[in-house]
Amino acid sequence: MKIVSQPEELVHFRHTLQGSVGFVPTMGALHNGHLSLIKRSIAENDHTVVSLFVNPTQFLPSEDLSTYPRRQEADLKLCKLAGVDAVFMPESGHMYSLVEPTLCAPETLGYALEGLRRPGHFDGVLRVVLKLFNLTQPTRAYFGKKDAQQLYLIQNMVRTFFLPITIVPCDIVREEDGLALSSRNAYLSPQEREDALKLSKALKHASRLVIQKEFHAKVLECTMLDTLAPLHVDYARVLRRDFTPLERVELGNTLIAIAAYVGSTRLIDNLWM
Ligand code: PAF
Repeated sequence: MKIVSQPEELVHFRHTLQGSVGFVPTMGALHNGHLSLIKRSIAENDHTVVSLFVNPTQFLPSEDLSTYPRRQEADLKLCKLAGVDAVFMPESGHMYSLVEPTLCAPETLGYALEGLRRPGHFDGVLRVVLKLFNLTQPTRAYFGKKDAQQLYLIQNMVRTFFLPITIVPCDIVREEDGLALSSRNAYLSPQEREDALKLSKALKHASRLVIQKEFHAKVLECTMLDTLAPLHVDYARVLRRDFTPLERVELGNTLIAIAAYVGSTRLIDNLWM
């Protein structure tokens, strides 16, 4: 497995690859969720490149950039065992210069839901993902459905910037008890880990109601808030998959999304129906 830290080196390596290239961008601290994206990329492509880069431009000044879990050695081992061809792990100074154009997420979506609490977060995500795409020139890129808004904005960027890349959305991976895997789960104390189950429970509760033909978005949202109590909830919303509001669930085009604080850790989860 090749380990690359300089952008130019990655471009050079990419030119040596024949056939399809799958790309899995990550911020490291790899868990089984990442591993499922990596395995899928390996199964569907001739080569797989993974990036490990805690991207500073997507963190707000108040957020956890300095304490974000970093486990480089373990991450590299996992990638090697999985059969990854190359890992790109640049320094921040290699990725950004002091003077460069920036990229803004569309205002309507980039600053709603996740973007409302984290203004500028998606600008930073799109900026780094575009750079990573340019360096890696993948045939396919793999993203988890857990970050549904990120996934949608990246699909939108690829479509509107005419990037010749297929975005592959991958299902959320959960612990046996339902907790969606996240690098931030590492912050949870045993009691918080228990409380965090309220997110997946609220989604399950809402989906059960839909199966019983309760389609009113407001009713489902209130039910989720009840299940999530006493957590500090950022949002519990029933939306279309393009993030426009709806009054009644449209089966096949609906996303139920939650963001809530468990202690000081902000977790997100969602369900596609
Ligand atoms: O989802 C993530 O881990 C990050 O937002 C990404 C896509 C790797 C960009 O830094």
